Order: sequence, then C-alpha cells, then structure tokens
Amino acid sequence: MPTQSTSKQLWRDVQVFDGLVQLSEAMTVLVEDGRIAGLWPAREFNEAHAEGAACAGRGGVMTPGLVDCHTHLVYAGNRAGEFEQRLEGVSYEEIARAGGGILSSVRATRAASEDELIAASLPRLDALLADGVTTVEIKSGYGLTVADELKMLRVARRLGQLRPVRVITTLLGAHALPPEYAGRADDYVSLVCDEMIPAAAAEGLADAVDVFCEGIGFSPAQCERIYQAAKAHGLAIKAHAEQLSNLGGSALAARYGALSADHIEYLDEAGVRAMAEAGTVAVLLPGAFHVLRETQLPPIELLRQYGVPMAVASDANPGTSPICMPTLMANLACTLFRLTPREALSGMTAQAARALGRLDLGRIEVGAPADLCLWDIQQPAELAYAVQAGRLRQRVFKGEVVYAR
Ligand code: NIG
Ligand code: FE
Repeated sequence: MPTQSTSKQLWRDVQVFDGLVQLSEAMTVLVEDGRIAGLWPAREFNEAHAEGAACAGRGGVMTPGLVDCHTHLVYAGNRAGEFEQRLEGVSYEEIARAGGGILSSVRATRAASEDELIAASLPRLDALLADGVTTVEIKSGYGLTVADELKMLRVARRLGQLRPVRVITTLLGAHALPPEYAGRADDYVSLVCDEMIPAAAAEGLADAVDVFCEGIGFSPAQCERIYQAAKAHGLAIKAHAEQLSNLGGSALAARYGALSADHIEYLDEAGVRAMAEAGTVAVLLPGAFHVLRETQLPPIELLRQYGVPMAVASDANPGTSPICMPTLMANLACTLFRLTPREALSGMTAQAARALGRLDLGRIEVGAPADLCLWDIQQPAELAYAVQAGRLRQRVFKGEVVYAR
C-alpha cells in the first residue's frame, strides 16, 4: 500500500481560471511539494497520477491566489472625519494642504509602536486573506523619518511571518513632505536618497521603491533622483502617478524601467506608449477612484490598444481607499472602468504578479507555486459580478490548505 503523503494533493472537477484564460473544461489539478505538478482536463486524467495523493476538493472554481499588488495596509488611526469633510465638499488636495490627509496618518503612525501597528494592521490583512489573497504588497509612507519608515517595513515583514501570505514590501518615503521639512522638499528627497533607501536596502526591508509624483507630492525631477538612488541599490521602481493631474510621472517611471505606474487616471497617450515600450504594468485602483468620487477615467481603451498589461489592486489605505476586499475591486474595475471580468481577474492574479516582478505567481500552470483559491461559484466571472463575502471554500498557500470552510 502506498502511504498517503499530505504533500501530494488532488482537486477534481474544478473550473480553472489560470490567471489569463478561463479553461472551459472541468480540470484535475495535482499539487506536490508546494507546486502545481499537473493540470489535465478531467476526462483525460490518468488515475495513475493520483497514487499517493489525497483528494483535497471537488467542484467549484479554482483561481490563482489573489495578488493585491498595491496596499498601504500598515498604519495607525483612521480618517473617517476627513471622509465626512469630503462629502461636504472639501477636496482631498485641500485637506492635504491643510496638514491633514497623509500627514494625519503620519502623526498616528509615528506615535505607534511596532506591536501597536501589528495589532492595527492584522484585521485588515485577515480581511484580505478571507477574500482570497495569497500575496500582498505593503508600502511604507506614513513614517517619513528613516526610523519610522523602517519601522513600517519591519511591521510589514512581520505580518508575513504571522500569517500564511507572501508579503512584498515597498519603501514609499516620498509619499508626502513631513512638516519638519516644510519649504525644504529637496533636502527631504536627499534624506530619502542618501539615508532611507540605503538603510532599507542594507537591512533587506524593501523589495521596491515608490514615489507620489503629484502637485501635493513630489515633482518629476525629485522622483527621478529617488529612482536613481533606488537603481543604485538594486531596488525595483514603482510610481503613484497621474492620479490627480498629469505631470508625466508614468513616462518617467517607464524610462527607469518601472514595474508599474499606479492610479493613472490622467495618463495621456505619450505616457501609455512609454509604458508599453518599457513593459510597465498599469495598476488600476478603482477603490480610490470610487472613494474620492473621481470622474476622470483612466485611459483603458488606449492601454488595451498599446497592449499595456492592466492590474487591479485595493490600494487599501486610510484616506482614499479604506477597503480591504479585493473582489469588490474586481467589481469596481468592471462597473467603473469597464474592464471585462476576465481582465479584472487577470488584473488581480497574473498581471498583479507582473506588477510585483513575480512572473512565477498569479498563474495556474505546471511548475508554479501552488498558491490557489477554491471558490463556491459556477464560473470565474462571478467573482467580479457579485459582491459577496464567504464564497472562498479553500485558500491554498505554498501547497498547503491554510483555510478551509
Ligand atoms: O494611493 N495618493 C497617494 N497615496 C495613497 C493615499 C494615501 C492616503 O491618503 O493616506 C493612494 O491613494
Ligand atoms: Fe496608493
């Protein structure tokens, strides 16, 4: 009798969305030693492959584990008061210029210990996991001193040890100008370039560097200095760009080989072309668009025409997107930006992984890490169509069923 190894597991009769294409037939999926070891149309499955495998599930829809490629999950406090102000007509920019907005979260985050930040962030992480996330990017950006930015990144890394999830970290020191540098933005950029980036790189705390290229953030010239420092330290590059205006931040990022340019509501054709040429992913953040009640739509049709890969992320943060539900983002990407459900799901799996430079993730293909979700639905499009918690039957991380309902 062969012994039944729990490291070899089989799912039968599942409808598979592989990250790019929905496979139309019922499939059999074999997972061994943390990786996808086989994928067959059910009727072609040779039972010899099942030897030693436990049947872990039958029926339902299997997708790659969701990849949330843009979040600001680590912060203290909340900004419900600003939400009310904005509903009364005060703009996001006005609140920021008056010292609220990001700086309000900076005050709360600076005052919090690592343990307090863990306690504040874990429920948000758990909400993402309950909605199928297996990889999450977490940015700093509410510390804005070397010590507080590193504190945030350490908390992000610790979250990845506390829960079965891959955490990718991004240093966003250039998120806002801290009050102690008022009128000295270039000096602050020097701090980011000469101290923050080297320290984060030396401690292995950051996988990438991001900037907020905007009138209320940093100029393209300042962002360029940060990109040069990031490159010098071997870190990948990302951008918050063209969210509230067009400063050419996406094209700049693309020139530096950025993994992604994110938000991009005000992106023009030259920017789209630059991103296409560089292979820079367009990360769409419909939660921020929705919460800020924006009306300027990202140039979806141009992105399609130029073949720019489109990812979709939650942007979970206390200001513009206090929403920890990636499947709602898929819905909003369709309803607000007119993505097809398949584009939205690719955007939260294969394309999101690409936006993190992880071409091995977000796909169901032989050899890929077995980060998977099994959903109690009939077809993948339902994940974008209906907004409903509790449809996740199993979450599989590195080949282990880490959540089962
Ligand atoms: O992605 N735009 C800049 N950064 C965040 C918002 C951060 C905040 O308001 O706290 C964003 O929308
Ligand atoms: Fe963001």
